[in-house]
Amino acid sequence: MRRKKMLERALILTVTVFLAVLFPLQSYGGVAGSKHDFSITGSSNFSGTFTGDDDEVCVYCHTPHGALGSQTPLWNKALTFNNGFTMYSSSTMDATVPGQPSTISLLCLSCHDGIGAINAVLNAPGPGGSITATGADQIGDLGPIGDRINIGGGDPAAPGPVDLSNDHPVSIQWAQRGPGFYATPQDPRLVLYNGQTVECTTCHDPHNGTPFNAGEDAFLRMSNQGSAMCLSCHIK
Ligand code: HEC
Ligand code: HEC
Ligand code: HEC
Ligand code: HEC
Repeated sequence: MRRKKMLERALILTVTVFLAVLFPLQSYGGVAGSKHDFSITGSSNFSGTFTGDDDEVCVYCHTPHGALGSQTPLWNKALTFNNGFTMYSSSTMDATVPGQPSTISLLCLSCHDGIGAINAVLNAPGPGGSITATGADQIGDLGPIGDRINIGGGDPAAPGPVDLSNDHPVSIQWAQRGPGFYATPQDPRLVLYNGQTVECTTCHDPHNGTPFNAGEDAFLRMSNQGSAMCLSCHIK
């Protein structure tokens, strides 16, 4: 009898562990309360700096009216980069290096270039409204916290080209490397645009504010623990 109970318990444990490995707990956190929540009551380093946002979370990136144009997801920011781009290139890369990133990656760079003001929106809440800052409003002005997320390396005091030369290439065509180099199919959580272009949002989801694991960055499409994300594309 006791032996049967023990066997039962062992079986339940094995099945539980098996299921946990097969279907790890997926967390999906939204924007509210995340590091992309710049509203008055948000939790980013900019929260409390801005007034006039009516505590709206989406307004820093989207607007229902007066958006940039039909090619963007109702984008509430200008995509103006006056000093051009320095793209990643290398002698071993097969993909053609574009002159500048495509629109989808430019969306991220409208803040992560280090220079675009977080509160510079096309359409602020309310009639004739504007979102004003009482402190730093650019990533390049944040100090050491800003350095880590300053992907374009911009310095508001001395603006230069948006420097992507030390970042994973974006707006490159997948197929140019040819067959045999990549895992197929890629993890379905990663998004390849037009079936083959790698952009910031291939690996990132700007709305998923909860890290998959403690200590991991937020806004990833899948965990990169054990380099799982890299290995779902590169056979290495
Ligand atoms: C920090 C910037 C940022 C914030 C804040 C933000 N978004 Fe987005 N959103 C983006 C970007 C970039 C894209 C395009 C990339 C993509 O499709 O994942 C996008 C795409 C979308 C899309 C179209 C694609 C899809 O995933 O369905 C919807 C709908 C959307 N956002 C809704 C929202 C809502 C609602 C909020 C507020 C709760 C919000 N977003 C807040 C950056 C943001
Ligand atoms: C409206 C400005 C804005 C836009 C647009 C934006 N971000 Fe951010 N993002 C920020 C700021 C500011 C922070 C840092 C907030 C903090 O640390 O308090 C941040 C933080 C992050 C982080 C770090 C998260 C962490 O856990 O520390 C990642 C990753 C990120 N953003 C990726 C993206 C990507 C990818 C896009 C485009 C899809 C994007 N962001 C669009 C402003 C923006
Ligand atoms: C091939 C996948 C991939 C692409 C493409 C990519 N990222 Fe990331 N990004 C990651 C991973 C993985 C991390 C987490 C790195 C870590 O934990 O150090 C990250 C981290 C970040 C961070 C947090 C700072 C850091 O170094 O930890 C920001 C901000 C960010 N990415 C923005 C961007 C932007 C903007 C683009 C487009 C110009 C982009 N990413 C393109 C995979 C990617
Ligand atoms: C969505 C698929 C995808 C993911 C995820 C991805 N990569 Fe890449 N990576 C590419 C493509 C496509 C290229 C361009 C390769 C070429 O054309 O030679 C590339 C280029 C590179 C290069 C430059 C190769 C060279 O010859 O200069 C390195 C290094 C690299 N990736 C490392 C990583 C690492 C590390 C990660 C995880 C953080 C990662 N990649 C995630 C698709 C991906």
